[in-house]
Amino acid sequence: MRDLNWYKGRKVLVTGHTGFKGTWLTRMLTDLGADVTGYSLASPTDPALFSMADVEGRINSVIGDVRDMDHMLKVFTESRPEIVFHLAAQPIVRDSYKEPRYTYETNVMGTVNLLECVRLTPSVKSVLNVTTDKVYLNEEREEGYREDEKLDGFDPYSNSKSCSELVTHSYKRSFFTPDMEQGIRTVAVSTARAGNVIGGGDFANDRIVPDCVRAVSKGAKLEVRNPYSVRPYQHVLEPLTVYLTICMCQEEDPGIQGYYNVGPDDCDCVNTGTLADLFAKHWGEGFSWENKSEAGAPHEAGFLRLNCDKLKKVFGWKVTWNIDKAIAKTVEFSRVYLEGGDIPSEMDRQINEFLKEATYG
Ligand SMILES: NC(=O)c1ccc[n+]([C@@H]2O[C@H](COP(=O)([O-])OP(=O)(O)OC[C@H]3O[C@@H](n4cnc5c(N)ncnc54)[C@H](O)[C@@H]3O)[C@@H](O)[C@H]2O)c1
Repeated sequence: MRDLNWYKGRKVLVTGHTGFKGTWLTRMLTDLGADVTGYSLASPTDPALFSMADVEGRINSVIGDVRDMDHMLKVFTESRPEIVFHLAAQPIVRDSYKEPRYTYETNVMGTVNLLECVRLTPSVKSVLNVTTDKVYLNEEREEGYREDEKLDGFDPYSNSKSCSELVTHSYKRSFFTPDMEQGIRTVAVSTARAGNVIGGGDFANDRIVPDCVRAVSKGAKLEVRNPYSVRPYQHVLEPLTVYLTICMCQEEDPGIQGYYNVGPDDCDCVNTGTLADLFAKHWGEGFSWENKSEAGAPHEAGFLRLNCDKLKKVFGWKVTWNIDKAIAKTVEFSRVYLEGGDIPSEMDRQINEFLKEATYG
């Protein structure tokens, strides 16, 4: 594994640091000794991993809206980051049907504002825009989508992320490609299109693993509304380690910057019902679920796989924790949470275990 201690002492800005993935990423970065500024709205859930993870006191945490360009630019100007991870988003498909305009404003204009801040902040050298596997035109087909395929997400969330990709492509071409004659500055910029993540500390609505944990805590049977929909599930540390690797490597070798899929192996693309079965296997007594398929629910893509050959070719990447282990780790975390245990120590234990087992980079 490429040595992520490279981040020690580096100035890093993370948007969306109060969210599920952002909190795990911030904990990883502070463990590595990075000097982190976070820019985000308050945690989107209650309870929230952010308030349990003991990261707020270790970073410069700024509560702000990515739609507020002036405020975000002020934070960039003051913190002078070298590395930027953009995770802030309205990330829930069902909410995007209820609030399409807000979803586009946050996910598209938020990305424009972020890239403007990068353009106007000379210290920035490396940027990663976190989008999603849902950016592709989903043809409900068997084989996985490659990075050069058509971007045209169906619902407002997925589509806003397709737009966020296109905005990034234009900024790369227009402002961040080296051109000595015109004096254009080089900034290495990539996007990462990850599949659905699971892991301890996710409290979002409408996601299967948080629903399992909520059912366990109430002693209730879980109703699964779409048990046959297949998704590329992976443990949250999987894409986060890839994000850290891309931003580190592209700063040293801008030739590797680009657009990367980050998903599980085909055998780990399972349906929601199988995921609930795995949760039951690892939890043991006290958890069960039933099929409650909904008629007339808003459209959600039924089948989606990613082709991750590019990531394998460039970084020698391979999956570290398969779906069974990812669920086992989520269950371990959830037990610590439900028993009122030490969440920061559990996060560090899982991060260290994951990084020891990861072999690419
Ligand atoms: N969770 C997944 O399965 C998954 C899969 C693929 C991609 N992603 C992407 O990863 C990123 C993080 O997702 P997550 O699961 O941690 O979501 P989350 O809802 O837990 O976190 C979202 C973060 O964005 C912030 N935010 C929302 N609107 C904002 C605004 N207008 N201004 C500033 N901050 C704002 C929230 O406060 C929070 O910190 C998102 O970009 C999402 O699209 C998530």
